[in-house]
Amino acid sequence: MHPITVRTMKFEVPSADEFHPLYIAGNAALSYSHTALGLYVAYLEPFMVKTLRKVLGQIRDDKLREEVDRFCRQEAQHYQQHIDFNKVVLAHGYPGLEQRIDTLRRDFDRFLADATDRFCVGYAEGFESYTTQSALQLLEYGHYDHRRTTRSFGDLFKWHMLEEIEHRNVAFDLYQHLYGDYFFRVRMCWMAQSHMLRFFRDCMQIMSRADVPRHGDRCRITAKWKLLLANNQLGMRVRSMLPGYSPHKYRLPANIAELSAHFTKIAVSVR
Ligand SMILES: [Fe+2]
Ligand SMILES: [Fe+2]
Repeated sequence: MHPITVRTMKFEVPSADEFHPLYIAGNAALSYSHTALGLYVAYLEPFMVKTLRKVLGQIRDDKLREEVDRFCRQEAQHYQQHIDFNKVVLAHGYPGLEQRIDTLRRDFDRFLADATDRFCVGYAEGFESYTTQSALQLLEYGHYDHRRTTRSFGDLFKWHMLEEIEHRNVAFDLYQHLYGDYFFRVRMCWMAQSHMLRFFRDCMQIMSRADVPRHGDRCRITAKWKLLLANNQLGMRVRSMLPGYSPHKYRLPANIAELSAHFTKIAVSVR
C-alpha cells in the first residue's frame, strides 16, 4: 500500500434534527473551530487540487509527480465528504454565515484567475505546514474519541487529520522543487494562515452568537479558550516559518500507522 493511500469513505451524515453544534467533546471552541475548518476546506481543497494539477507537467521527478497526484486525490475525497456534513451545519441556520462563505469562495476564485502558480502553490504550502501540526495535536489529544463527541463528526475529522499527516510532505516538496525561495514561502505562510484564521474567527463568532440563545451559555467561547487557541495558533505559525522547518522532521507517534490501517480496512475502496 502506498503511504499516501487514497480511500473512499462512507460516513453516516447526521440528520438536521440530530445535529447539535457542540459535537466535539461538547466544547464550544473545539466544535466551532472544527465547523469553520469543514466550511473552509470545502473551498480551499478544490483550489489546491486545481492549483497542483495545473503545475503537474512542470514536475521533473516521477516520485514527486505521483505523490502530488495522490495528494490531489486525497484532498478531493476530503472536500466531498465535508460538503455533505456542511449542509447539516448550514441547515441549522446562522445569519451572516452564507455571506461570509461567499466572500471566501470569491477569494479562491480570484486567486485561481489572477495569481501566479508560485502564489497558489505557496498558499497550499502555507496551509499544509500549519495543518500538519494541527492534525498531529488533534489526534494526540483524543477529542475525537471523547464521550461527548458525535461519532460521525469524530470519525470524519479523525480520517481527514490522518490523511493530512500521510501527505504532509507533498506541498512542501513541491514548493521546494519548483521554487525553493525561503522568503517567499514565509510570506505565503503568513498570508495563507492569516486568510484562514480570519475566516475561522468570523465563523466562530457568527455561530456562537446564534447558538447561545437557542442552546444555552455553553455555546459561548470563553476568554480562556480564546487565549488557548490564540497561543496555540501563534506557536504553529512561527514554527512553520522558521528557516529549518521541514515536515520530513516529524517523528510520528506509533498510533498513526494503526489509524492508517484502521481507515484502510473500513474504506469502501482503496487505491
Ligand atoms: Fe484535506
Ligand atoms: Fe492536505
